[in-house]
Amino acid sequence: MRITINQIKAMKQRAEKIVMLTAYDYSTARLVDETGIPLILVGDSLGMVVLGYESTIPVTMEEMLHHTRAVVRGTKQAMVVGDMPFMTYHVSVEDALRNAARFIQEAGAQAVKLEGGVTVAEKVKRIVECGIPVMGHIGLTPQSIHQFGGFKMQGKTPEAAANLLADAKALEEAGVFAIVLETIPANLGRLITDKVSIPTIGIGAGPACDGQVQVINDILGSFADFVPKHAKQYVKLTDIISKAVSQYRDEVKDGTFPTE
Ligand code: KIV
Repeated sequence: MRITINQIKAMKQRAEKIVMLTAYDYSTARLVDETGIPLILVGDSLGMVVLGYESTIPVTMEEMLHHTRAVVRGTKQAMVVGDMPFMTYHVSVEDALRNAARFIQEAGAQAVKLEGGVTVAEKVKRIVECGIPVMGHIGLTPQSIHQFGGFKMQGKTPEAAANLLADAKALEEAGVFAIVLETIPANLGRLITDKVSIPTIGIGAGPACDGQVQVINDILGSFADFVPKHAKQYVKLTDIISKAVSQYRDEVKDGTFPTE
């Protein structure tokens, strides 16, 4: 039996920290699932760390569904959350519903995530009313980097902080089961966490959030382009992989691999 949204919400009530991590393929998802991590996000960050795009903006529904299916196949107990790509939930409520449904019906995810607060609340409400759990995402929402002028911390002024709190409240009202808070000051992360009844999952939003999410490539050191300031590298896979691949290359060339 997979983790349910009720179990996730109950973790906030008993002050148990919630761990979420991204995964994009079967083998990695299987390993993550076996550690007991309850929430696996098939993030549109896959556009950058798996597909080599410069941002998450080019990611398509077909790419997201393809990777979500693989992650679902690799997991037994985690809740798999599919990330709705740019412009798949903005144009109309009908669009948002149809695309959210594809994650559940065609890819086997148990929930979807989408970016935005007040402006997407109506769509969130309809998706939830149709029986699809939704996770919100506010703060530095990567699909809006051109509007923000880059990957910049959000909520720094009192007015911006008040807007983010209003976004969180609007999402709570619309029925989300949790909200990702990305790259905002730690004191704002604490304030929003205290003011909403649903769990907050932080990424660069300080330690007071009810849970934390990271991009798996960042914590494993397998993405060489850049390391976000909020990430901790628990290992540096780029070095380990490079060493192993070079050794394989050398052994094929000098004939020590394969053996008889
Ligand atoms: O796409 C993603 O991986 C995300 C997380 C960083 C929250 O949205």
